[in-house]
Amino acid sequence: MLVSGTGTNLQALLDACDSGEIPAEVAVVISNVPDALALERARRAGVPAIVIGRRAVSGAPAFEAAIRRALEAHRVGLVCLAGFLKILSPAFVAAFAGRVMNIHPALLPAFGGRGMYGDRVHEAVLASGARVSGCTVHFVTEEPDAGPIIAQAAVPVHDDDDEATLHERIKVAERSLLVDTVGRLVRYGWSIEGRKVRIGP
Ligand code: GRF
Repeated sequence: MLVSGTGTNLQALLDACDSGEIPAEVAVVISNVPDALALERARRAGVPAIVIGRRAVSGAPAFEAAIRRALEAHRVGLVCLAGFLKILSPAFVAAFAGRVMNIHPALLPAFGGRGMYGDRVHEAVLASGARVSGCTVHFVTEEPDAGPIIAQAAVPVHDDDDEATLHERIKVAERSLLVDTVGRLVRYGWSIEGRKVRIGP
């Protein structure tokens, strides 16, 4: 798992792996932010937690090479970005093609792309007048937030929502979507054809 923040999604996966709901383990947690709470969550669960590239810019070759080495050393089969605030280069994405997924706090293909992260996503949703938002789990390709969609969940937008209340409601949906999706990917395998993801043989 690649993280930069509080790690509530990471926690949901750690718990689901621990309880057997997901028949896999979180092999390593990598953060570019040294004091990310996510690292503490990993350590508490006994999972290797490492900091890489604390001052690195997105796509910096040495930063990405270090991430690749760590993922390979831990024999990672699926890379999950959960609140990871760096954009991975095309070379990195190609090296792990079809094996890197991301969770985005809106219903893609709307409200995604470069610059659409954190509160900006919810700000844009609220400004648009949309009555539903939600979350999207997708495979990562070169273009941010534009890869094949694996699964989505919708949540209502309330009249009195601000960015924080909307994000909180979405985060509840994110945790179950992520656990359910990773569980199915791990159990049944997956294939990608163009923009279509099929889970199962
Ligand atoms: C999530 O809302 C995710 O969709 C977004 O960043 C947030 C990360 O939250 N990309 P957490 O670190 O898992 O608590």
